[in-house]
Amino acid sequence: MKEKIRALVKERNAVLLSHNYQPPEIQEMADLCGDSLELSIRAADTDAEVIVFCGVHFMAETASILSPDKIVLLPNADAGCPMADMITPVALRARRKDLPGIPVVTYVNSSAAVKALSTICCTSANAVAVVNSLDDAELLMTPDRNLARNTARHTDKKIHLWDGCCPIHDRLTVADVEAAKAAHPGAVFMAHPECRPEVVEMADAALSTSGMIRFAAESDATEFIVGTEVGLLYPLAQKNPGKIFYPASEGMVCPDMKKITPQDILDCLENMSGQVKVPEDIRIPALAAVTRMIELSR
Ligand code: 13P
Ligand code: SF4
Repeated sequence: MKEKIRALVKERNAVLLSHNYQPPEIQEMADLCGDSLELSIRAADTDAEVIVFCGVHFMAETASILSPDKIVLLPNADAGCPMADMITPVALRARRKDLPGIPVVTYVNSSAAVKALSTICCTSANAVAVVNSLDDAELLMTPDRNLARNTARHTDKKIHLWDGCCPIHDRLTVADVEAAKAAHPGAVFMAHPECRPEVVEMADAALSTSGMIRFAAESDATEFIVGTEVGLLYPLAQKNPGKIFYPASEGMVCPDMKKITPQDILDCLENMSGQVKVPEDIRIPALAAVTRMIELSR
């Protein structure tokens, strides 16, 4: 299956991108695995004619926003993001009326239509830098209330919240972390900024998924408790032989990140199916918000 897929990737002049949470067999066959920011930058830079995005719908949309002349394929149309669905353009327009003149910082985990109404995007890797890059003293951050609260700890700006969250990260409690720390005393605890603030406060480091991979590699520690989706345990172990990684909670599984199968990838490359294309009237304003973020992060 892997050989067939790699042959088709070459034949179609495609690039296969995988988020760090994807199943091991998909990460193994990808041209690039990464966090949301790395994948956005790669989608903007690639010369390939086709981008196969192994992740969730908003990631494929971001690739389409950045590369309108390329064909973007999402191998399984059902792979969405519950957090991205917690904000709609209608609801954001209404909220903006209550906060006139205030910039909107939107997490990339959002639809293209919501990005189109935003001033600038951010990811978990650059949220603090994005917020601090704004001249304004006040801003609205959407849709993740946890990322917004965790970012607020690193800025003097007033951040208005949107009441959304990642159900998988929001489910990690202080009690879960206390239990993991008791079971693995001495282990370093890494938390994703989508976790609740009281959980992030317990962490030795709050990082994006690729940030965790780099942090673990650079650290002298040999044991780590991982406060993010369990898919990250695979690349952490692959890239850090000899180090041990424990999930902060076994329950941190994102079903959407597990929907794409190798068969789906083969089918979409054979039939050029699963195309994701953002219409121009949404793409142009969304591109402004995404480009502002990428320029800041390069
Ligand atoms: P990062 O890989 O950017 O940290 O994002 C985590 C996530 O939840 C993506 O869906
Ligand atoms: Fe969305 Fe959370 Fe799944 Fe990421 S892990 S795709 S934020 S539901």
